[in-house]
Order: sequence, then structure tokens, then C-alpha cells
Amino acid sequence: MKSLNLLTENVIVFLPIRLLRSITIDLILMTHKIENIAVLTSGGDAPGMNAAIRAVVRACSYYEVNCYGVYKGYEGLIDNEIEQLNARSVRNIINKGGTFLKSARSKEFRTEEGRKKAYENLIKNQIDALIVIGGDGSFTGALKLSEEFNFPVIGIPGTIDNDINGTDYTIGYDTALNTVVEAIDKIRDTASSHNRLFLIEVMGRDAGDIALNAGIGAGAEEILIPEENMGVDRLIDSLKKSKHTGKTSSIIVVAEGDKSGKNIFELGEYVEEHLEDYEVRVSVLGHIQRGGPPSCYDRVLASKLGVGAVEALLDGKDKIMVGIVHKKVTIVPLTDSLEKRKQKHDQLIKVADITSV
Ligand code: F6P
Repeated sequence: MKSLNLLTENVIVFLPIRLLRSITIDLILMTHKIENIAVLTSGGDAPGMNAAIRAVVRACSYYEVNCYGVYKGYEGLIDNEIEQLNARSVRNIINKGGTFLKSARSKEFRTEEGRKKAYENLIKNQIDALIVIGGDGSFTGALKLSEEFNFPVIGIPGTIDNDINGTDYTIGYDTALNTVVEAIDKIRDTASSHNRLFLIEVMGRDAGDIALNAGIGAGAEEILIPEENMGVDRLIDSLKKSKHTGKTSSIIVVAEGDKSGKNIFELGEYVEEHLEDYEVRVSVLGHIQRGGPPSCYDRVLASKLGVGAVEALLDGKDKIMVGIVHKKVTIVPLTDSLEKRKQKHDQLIKVADITSV
């Protein structure tokens, strides 16, 4: 009898609390309904950013919410460079490299004061949520803003480096890979005509994705990446071996963040000193890798992630990144996206070793 009483008591107490909670949630949703979404591009630009902005703007139009473009990334947010965009504002940009909203790496936004100014401008423009297209630095800023001012943010991974956790690919990576492969193909022509050895530096401060994949795709003899330090002596040994097997020219792809302890020019001198048979040349591909029309893959990826970001926001999601995992648009907490990637390059390294003999 006692337990029945307790149960009865619990039911009496429990029901009104549940009811109250659901009413409160409804009220929160009503009062925080997303009506105005802002979008910005931040950090290093990447081909396909325009396609992502276009998808965000058009998804807003489809779901009948207002969309605002912020110029020059966080810099523009601090300076209140915000403009309303509509479906027509983003015509003819899906095929263009760069970002028409411009991008920047803002020092001021790294300070609390800067983020406060940015937040005040968001409020002044009645913006309810912010979509940030960029890399890990941009996501770190977005998360800080969101946590400090309880403001909804969503990240879309846009960087040629492909170094974001929680997505198989970042926007711009595929285009950059193709640019690099095309450039190496051209260098190979001249390398082989002159029996030369070329060291080619590609982007990737912390990630070897571009170097490894473009290196395999272009048939490089050696690939140096930040995640794996093969050591200069092993490099020389390996090059000597391939010379003995009859190779007359060689391509070494070096990611800019490689851990040999030498910059590419020092590495070039070292290789020339230790491999007398070869004339060595160095080529730094640089920012050519960040430009040009996005590949079809990047355009489609950017379109999927742009639509996904708006849908996630309207679904009440916050502090998340939309990414692509096994071809599906997926969301992960922004904090997870900032963690070190679990993915290893072992398989690709093996493929590179086997196919470059
Ligand atoms: O983050 C992308 C990236 O392209 C890196 O690979 C490279 O180290 C860096 O940007 C260069 O950036 P910036 O030219 O803007 O200084």
C-alpha cells in the first residue's frame, strides 16, 4: 500500500513537470525562431567557398528565412560589413574560385573585446544564427563566440588542407589536388627532358593529404609529409636505389609542414650534395593551389553542406559542423571537429612506396 501511495504521488508530481517542460521548450523555440541567418568565409580561401555561400543563400530562400552575407570574415563582423543577400545575389558564382564575400584572418576577433563587437553587430542586425565557412582556426573563433554569448553557430569545412576531424573531405581539397597533379605533370615533362630531380613544395602546414594523394596521382618517387618523418638519410638512400634501377629523373613532393628540419631549398642543396648524378631544382607551387574554378566534386560537396547547414540550424542545432562521412551529410559537435584527426595515412604511404619503385 505504501508503494502505491508513492507511485500515486510520483504521478501527480511528474505529470505537471513534464507538461511544464514541454510548454517551456515550445516557448523557447517560438521566442528563438531562426529568421535571419548570416554567413561568412574565414581563413585561407578555398575553391568551392562560393558554391557553399550560394547553397546557404538559396536554402534560406527555400525555407523562407532571411540571409545576410558578412564581408571579410570576422573582420567584417567586427566592422559591421553585413549585407542582405537573396537568391539572385549569388547567381553565376558556383563556377568561381575564391570567395565573393572575401576572407581574412582576424587578429581582433581573437580578443574578447573583438568578439564582443562582433556579437553586438549580430544583434544590431537582428541575426539569429551564424554559419562560418572555413578551417579549424575559424571554427575555434566561432565556438568561442557561441559559448561567450550563447549565440548559435554552425561550421562548414572549407580549406584545401582536408585537415578537419569529422568530415571525409573539406571544400576545396579536391580542386587543389587536381591543380597540384596538373602542375606536377608539367614539371615531370621538363624534369625528364633534362634528367633532373625536382623537389616540389605543396601546401599543408599540418596535414600531408595534398602531398600524399597528389604525389601518388602524379607518380612521385618520394613524398614527405608532416605526419611522418622519414629522415633525410633514408630519402637519399631511397633516391640512390631508384637511380640504380634505371630512373633518370625524379619527383619529390614535399608538404610545407614536413618534419625533415630543413626548408625545401636547404633540402634541395642537401640532396644535390649527396646525389652527384642529379641536377636538382626546387619548385614551390604556392597559392596557385588555392585558386581556380572548383571541381565538380567540390561544387556538389559545397552545395550539400550549405543546404545541410541551414537545415541543421532550422532544426535547432548549434555549435556543430556539417561534414561528409561515407557520402552522407553528417553533423558533429564543433568541439569534435577541432580534435586531432584519428585517420592514419598508413595505407596510402604503403601504396606510394609500392608504386614508386
Ligand atoms: O590553411 C590553408 C593554407 O592553404 C595552408 O596550407 C597554408 O599553410 C596556408 O593556408 C597559407 O596561408 P596564407 O597564404 O593565407 O598565409
